Amino acid sequence: MQESDDSIERRAATEADVPFLLELRRQTMAEHLRASGVEQSDAESEQRVRARLDCAEIVLRHGAPIGLFKAVRDGSDWTLMQIQIAPGHQGRGIGAALIRALLLEAQQAGAALRLSVLRANLPALRLYQRLGFRSIGETPHSFYLLRGRPSEALPRTIVVGDPASALDTPALLVDLPLMERNIERMLGRFRGTAVQVRPHLKTVKSPLLARRLLEAGARGVCVAKLSEAEVMLAAGIEDVLITSEIAGSAKLARLVALLERHHELKLVVDSAQAADALERALCAAECRVDVLIDLDVGQRRCGVLPGAPALALARHLSQLSCLHLVGIQGYEGHLQQLGDVEAQARECERAMQRLTDTARALRGAGHRIDIVSTGGTGTAELCARHDGVTEVQPGSFVFLDTSYRSIVGAAYECALSVLATVISRPRAGEAVVDAGLKSLSTDSGPAAPKQAGMTYRPAGDEHGILSWQPASGTELQVGDRVELLPSHIDTTINLHDVYYAQRNQVIEGIWPVLARGKVQ
Ligand SMILES: Cc1ncc(COP(=O)(O)O)c(C=O)c1O
Repeated sequence: MQESDDSIERRAATEADVPFLLELRRQTMAEHLRASGVEQSDAESEQRVRARLDCAEIVLRHGAPIGLFKAVRDGSDWTLMQIQIAPGHQGRGIGAALIRALLLEAQQAGAALRLSVLRANLPALRLYQRLGFRSIGETPHSFYLLRGRPSEALPRTIVVGDPASALDTPALLVDLPLMERNIERMLGRFRGTAVQVRPHLKTVKSPLLARRLLEAGARGVCVAKLSEAEVMLAAGIEDVLITSEIAGSAKLARLVALLERHHELKLVVDSAQAADALERALCAAECRVDVLIDLDVGQRRCGVLPGAPALALARHLSQLSCLHLVGIQGYEGHLQQLGDVEAQARECERAMQRLTDTARALRGAGHRIDIVSTGGTGTAELCARHDGVTEVQPGSFVFLDTSYRSIVGAAYECALSVLATVISRPRAGEAVVDAGLKSLSTDSGPAAPKQAGMTYRPAGDEHGILSWQPASGTELQVGDRVELLPSHIDTTINLHDVYYAQRNQVIEGIWPVLARGKVQ
């Protein structure tokens, strides 16, 4: 018998519901777990109950709690994490109605819905099959089901809510509490000040993380490449600044296609020649774009020089009809990881002087300069102290890497590791793991094992070697897992399809690195 709609309601779960949820879990799950051969301690059960409690809803019947409905709506891959109806209320179609409503919601959002179900829970399995779910993978205990279009990037036998121990390796592992702390530290520092944060997504390459940063208060985002902008814009993130110069006919054609649909996209230019090429391509397509002058504040990479050359470029831009000058960018990349704090502060002050003096001169010449954008993780605070800076563009702070950690000290923490498995123990004091050059970049040196007393070195594309003093007491067996902290996160993240975000050893998010390989 179908339950009438008005007798069933849902409300957000709170901490106070945890005792009810633990009892509900015992009533609805213990038997199936036992029959499936899954041993779950009380602590593990509680972790599952608490995981993504922010997404949990209490199902009420005539106002009284009778169940749990926990669905994670991340990007275009949603997970039905838990649905449990107390035994006395089963058989009334309550669960089926809730799942049907979620499926409709997912369909409207263009999202696929996935879940895992214990093999022994046959009534649930049959219900999912009736509702159109199909199996995409299986383990000895569970079936993994999906409705909708599967994302090729995502693994088939892991869903949100699974224990981290179920992950295959090598895997890019996010420590969620540390990541959240890093984000809050950076965004919190600037909240309520005149300086905005426009995080650089060249590091994280994920629209889901972009959303989190925007929710934490970021003002728009930066990307390094047009192809990264394509990914972010397609995911609905509109205020995007491409911080590298755009050149070449193929790129201009792609740019025009984007600008026809996305009007908040911003570019940087550092030469009249590049500006003219942009002008020709955009005007032919009747498009306009907001641009920032890219200024060389000392990095000696791209950028027009401060003073007269910048003024000349601004004058040139003012004669163009499809490029619209709105600001100036001066990234001092050469100062981000300067070990000497005093030298860094001194050099940063000089760079900011060049940037803000030029902004003032441009305004004095009648140009509109709303945005003065600069800074990275290592200098954001120093830059923001300087009057005239309107926004900072840090990127690495979200996860940090060991190169940065040695410079920024305790301000941010390493929140990303590569989880690897010991595959061989050929010699005393050494273990071989399954993560080599294809899992961890080495442009900034080798990764560092999270566990103290060991070192890591790559030993080929697919292998790495952990070493320790045989007398140190370290013992590793084949099958053991270790976490390796990347020396450079940007180039390491670009090697992986997905992030696995864990809290208390429960997977809370599986986020595709959607802009992986987007280097054009
Ligand atoms: C133009 C620009 N802005 C900002 C950043 C972010 O710097 P970080 O990753 O050091 O925070 C970068 C990084 O390379 C960059 O190239």
